[in-house]
Amino acid sequence: MSIIEVRNLKKSFGPLEVLKDISINIEKGDIVAILGPSGSGKSTFLRSLIDLEEIDGGDICIEGKYLAKDGVYPSEKEKRKILLKTGMVFQHFNLFPHLNIKKNLMLAPLLAKQDTKENIENLAKETLKKVGLSDKINVMPSTLSGGQKQRVAIARALMLQPDIVLFDEPTSALDPELTGEVLNVIRNLAKEGNTMLIVTHEVGFASEVANKVVFMEDGYIQAVGTPDEVIKNQTNERINAFLNKVK
Ligand SMILES: Nc1ncnc2c1ncn2[C@@H]1O[C@H](COP(=O)(O)OP(=O)(O)O)[C@@H](O)[C@H]1O
Ligand SMILES: [Mg+2]
Repeated sequence: MSIIEVRNLKKSFGPLEVLKDISINIEKGDIVAILGPSGSGKSTFLRSLIDLEEIDGGDICIEGKYLAKDGVYPSEKEKRKILLKTGMVFQHFNLFPHLNIKKNLMLAPLLAKQDTKENIENLAKETLKKVGLSDKINVMPSTLSGGQKQRVAIARALMLQPDIVLFDEPTSALDPELTGEVLNVIRNLAKEGNTMLIVTHEVGFASEVANKVVFMEDGYIQAVGTPDEVIKNQTNERINAFLNKVK
């Protein structure tokens, strides 16, 4: 069973058909890089997978359970149960500015009654260590650099111990000298066998880290395959033009 199965997904905003017919299977442990021009629906696709956008048609099946079937959704309670195991990191970090780093990390697991407070606190320490920020546990978000904030945002998503982590352009809001530290954290998560979908313009990073590369344009997946197939040995002129532009 694939960890995510998407069949004939359709999504419009009014008259604008953003996702016309998207089908893809994602396997456990896949690192999927999603490339494509701005406005091609990459964010809409990721947001659909975690119910931030309601789709108009098609199926989204996560770990064997339908989040949407023929565009029809189950109850809120059922949706929450299905999505409990999916975490998302956005381009903008959205840390809670009035809470220190430890509290930022502990908030969602406490609300979800994931574990005892003590265990959640230990998990926060462990997770911060994973992103290389153990020394920042008691500081406020405003004292961190952009790269550090994004690493905390990644740690916060990991606190819910997701089976699937989605990243929407995790480095595009960062100065170039700060992207490396965030890509390193993602690289390490990839090595741990997590299942991850990463929308990125970092073609080099996608080639190195992903085992599956998706190119989206005009509402369709125009190409899907290994980095060699989709990036290195690409013969489609339009896709090559895009790759050369962002490289
Ligand atoms: N909530 C919305 N309402 C109306 N149009 C939207 C909305 N969200 C996205 N769009 C439009 O859908 C298209 C795809 O957007 P998006 O998924 O953000 O693309 P990408 O992430 O690939 O840049 C764009 O034309 C965008 O303007
Ligand atoms: Mg986007």
